[in-house]
Amino acid sequence: MPDWTMLKECKLFDCLSEKGKEAFLPPGIFYWLGRAKKEATINATIGSAYGPASEIGLPGDAHTVFYLPGLMQFFSELSPAEIFPYAPILGAPDFRSTWRNWILEKLKPAGRNLDALLTSPVAAPGVTGALAIVGELFLTPGESVILPDRYWENYDNVLCANVGSRITTYPFYDGEDFNIPALRSAVDESLASQGKAVVVLNFPNNPTGFSPSVATAQKIAATLEDAAVTSGKWVVAIADDAYEGYVYTDDCLQYSIFAELAGKRNVLAVKLDGVSKELLFYGARLACITFGVPESCASKKDLLAKELEEKVGAVIRASISNCNHPVQQLVRRSLESKMGLLLAERQKVIDVLRRRWEVYNREMEKADRSILHPLASNSGFFSSVDLVSAKANDVADLLMKEFKVGVVPSEAGGKHSLRIAFCSVEERDIPRLVTSVFEAAKRLSRK
Ligand SMILES: Cc1ncc(COP(=O)(O)O)c(C=O)c1O
Repeated sequence: MPDWTMLKECKLFDCLSEKGKEAFLPPGIFYWLGRAKKEATINATIGSAYGPASEIGLPGDAHTVFYLPGLMQFFSELSPAEIFPYAPILGAPDFRSTWRNWILEKLKPAGRNLDALLTSPVAAPGVTGALAIVGELFLTPGESVILPDRYWENYDNVLCANVGSRITTYPFYDGEDFNIPALRSAVDESLASQGKAVVVLNFPNNPTGFSPSVATAQKIAATLEDAAVTSGKWVVAIADDAYEGYVYTDDCLQYSIFAELAGKRNVLAVKLDGVSKELLFYGARLACITFGVPESCASKKDLLAKELEEKVGAVIRASISNCNHPVQQLVRRSLESKMGLLLAERQKVIDVLRRRWEVYNREMEKADRSILHPLASNSGFFSSVDLVSAKANDVADLLMKEFKVGVVPSEAGGKHSLRIAFCSVEERDIPRLVTSVFEAAKRLSRK
């Protein structure tokens, strides 16, 4: 944490609130990203898809952020009425209904009729903003929120530093699968000590790139339901679906786990999804909060939804007031008239990422398991490796200085691992990326 020399010297530090005094930007991902931009020739720190334009059928060979050209057209076509007015607190009604249809479309492979269980999505500023709003709504400061021990580091800022909750973790993996017994114990403990349990599930997962199978996802949902019903309390199950749709094998869940959670007894399912990764529109800052109510409440859903909306609306009004209007209209127009085209364009990106993921895994297969242990992955933008006996920060530093390779280290909970963003590394560079990770880890491993 910085020592705030100037703020203190100018006596401004004392003007800050207690929260303001505590606030700091953790070095984490942005520190490594900043260094990689200056020092690295392979930058595997960025959680955004990049590559040569031609790889996804765009003209030229310039290195570019991958985007969907189908979205571009509407920038010049929006009318003043779609651009300049405030959006309503909950979001533009036509955007909300279009996003609801988009969700139903995405969840079709689950083969369930979810229409009766879904509330109308509420617009939020990115999945980060959605998480902050939902956190504020369901977590009293000091209460615990349950996460696996492999989680996106910004949850610390949003859910602890900002919302004031405590993160309780359980081991993510049971061998190569998701650790359901560990989740169950964490939920039972939480239900025993507070009025409800709040769980965040993030598949495809950042940082591991893991998604469960359909059977495992169904077991997760049944486990949460059983824990809730047995205790007579509620489980608020938040699906952070930031990477929805990016799956690379047929045997993992092709849709959000929200589809399995919605309808379960004593479970309030909350879906957070947005355009940042799903539509490769990171700068839009647009996501949605959607609830899936238990079957037992389906007949009262509309009235229940209205009250839930009012709660969400109150937090929004008190913080960000409302979201970016033109982006809602642009996304609405694109999804309404070009969903097929957008999906086809995005498929090109998914295919590129799948090939990178395959090459990454093929190369990692060769790595000596006494040095590093690649974590099971099948989806998303990242993969991770655990270091058997080297320190993650030291390996990342050596990688940067000597191998000119940027990755993000984590030493959280005493585990030493590296997050490798294959989404931003060209396929041809992946063998060097993997060899470098291995060589650096080997050099710093205990003999
Ligand atoms: C797991 C997870 N959730 C949420 C987000 C943030 O998404 P957004 O850019 O929409 O705020 C990220 C982005 O890195 C993420 O990895």
